Amino acid sequence: MKIAVLGTGYVGLSTGVCLSQIGHQVTCLDINERKINQLRQGISPIYEPNLEELLTSNMAAGRLQFTTSQPEALADAEIIIIAVGTPQGDDGAADLTYLVQAAKEITSYITQETIIVIKSTVPVGTNAVVKKLIEDRTGTTVKMVSNPEFLRQGSAIEDTMKADRIIIGSENELAARKIEEMYQPLNVPVIVTSTKSAEMIKYASNAFLATKISYINEMANLCEAVGANVADVARGMGKDKRIGEAFLNAGIGYGGSCFPKDVKALLHTAEVNGVEFPLLKETIAINERQREWLVAKALKRFGHLSGKKIAMLGLAFKPETDDMREAPSIPISAALSKWGAEVIAYDPVATENAKKLLGDSIKYAGSIAEAVYEADAVFIVTEWNEIKNQDLVEMIRNMKEPIIFDGRNCFSEDEIRACSAIEYYPIGKPSIII
Ligand code: UGA
Repeated sequence: MKIAVLGTGYVGLSTGVCLSQIGHQVTCLDINERKINQLRQGISPIYEPNLEELLTSNMAAGRLQFTTSQPEALADAEIIIIAVGTPQGDDGAADLTYLVQAAKEITSYITQETIIVIKSTVPVGTNAVVKKLIEDRTGTTVKMVSNPEFLRQGSAIEDTMKADRIIIGSENELAARKIEEMYQPLNVPVIVTSTKSAEMIKYASNAFLATKISYINEMANLCEAVGANVADVARGMGKDKRIGEAFLNAGIGYGGSCFPKDVKALLHTAEVNGVEFPLLKETIAINERQREWLVAKALKRFGHLSGKKIAMLGLAFKPETDDMREAPSIPISAALSKWGAEVIAYDPVATENAKKLLGDSIKYAGSIAEAVYEADAVFIVTEWNEIKNQDLVEMIRNMKEPIIFDGRNCFSEDEIRACSAIEYYPIGKPSIII
């Protein structure tokens, strides 16, 4: 099938690459010339495992193109997939500016046969609004499909190629069937719903996962208070198939470009529809508190943080990505600076992006060893393998004091006990002081 993908962010680029990988003829369109030029050279603008390999091989096979030219991408596309960003607006609602712009751009290329797929995360009712906008401009009926995306950053390709489900929401049976056919080579279960239900499934899923994280984080705080171990509690809970093991890792709160904005957008949808959703409000409030938890622990330990040198290990909102959006490292470093601490951070890939946000409010190290040198304490903020797999004994050797506040529970009790002197403060588990 001949497919055009609008937007080369995480979702658009991964979708385009994966659809070309399963044999479709894909052209990705973006207004950002620099990005398109980079992509044409086989360079991915984002850090994502396996993306560049699939990008170059499918380009070489002639199945994948990148362009800034609308006619080139859209002229004879059977399917147009809109995957532009829907960032958070000032009032908490999703900002649909890019989506509306994309809808306007495609109008002159749409025929009665074209299927328009909205993959961007959009509030309930948006597909209908876009349909009307295009129909008003073209004077023809258009076929719309809501096809939300569930890939995670850091495993975007794997999540797309081996998705748990594909959601197809449409009022047009033929269009729904065609999109099902497009995905057929992936051999993934397909659920066909109304457009509104498909739009809601995306928000309902993200908000549920965010709530699961806030639940386990609150449970972690209770475990700390009573002396239980949240990792054991999560393991015990997760074995119950009705609960499931995933997304029960306690830590310093969820971040990224999706959960924070999507929970707020769903809450906004509830509010404008006159529905109270106190659970979502608590999910957000718990997350806000959790992001400052390590700082609270450090304040309790030291009494004050003025003049303390804190090594922050990890900056990205999660491992395997250089994305800093809503990363817990941002409020943590701000709080540490506010308390008068000096922060020196290390991240395997996110440092350049972090510099754009944090500037010189903190210092940056080129290695773990450099960051922890003569530090009063270490804050573990992102669970990169490099951080988890480091030799703890070696790491604490050059610290001023061997004190670790681990926001991601990276180390086992055995690893900690192998150190001759250490103070280890994890999340939701008993502290270990040797
Ligand atoms: C999330 C969803 O998982 C995807 O299904 C969805 O497609 C995507 O949003 C989106 O809407 O585009 P993503 O934001 O890439 O994906 O990252 P996740 O792996 O879900 O992690 C989100 C945050 O939750 C991270 O800060 C992570 O550290 C945190 N987290 C995750 C926990 O604190 N504990 C957990 O057990 C799991």
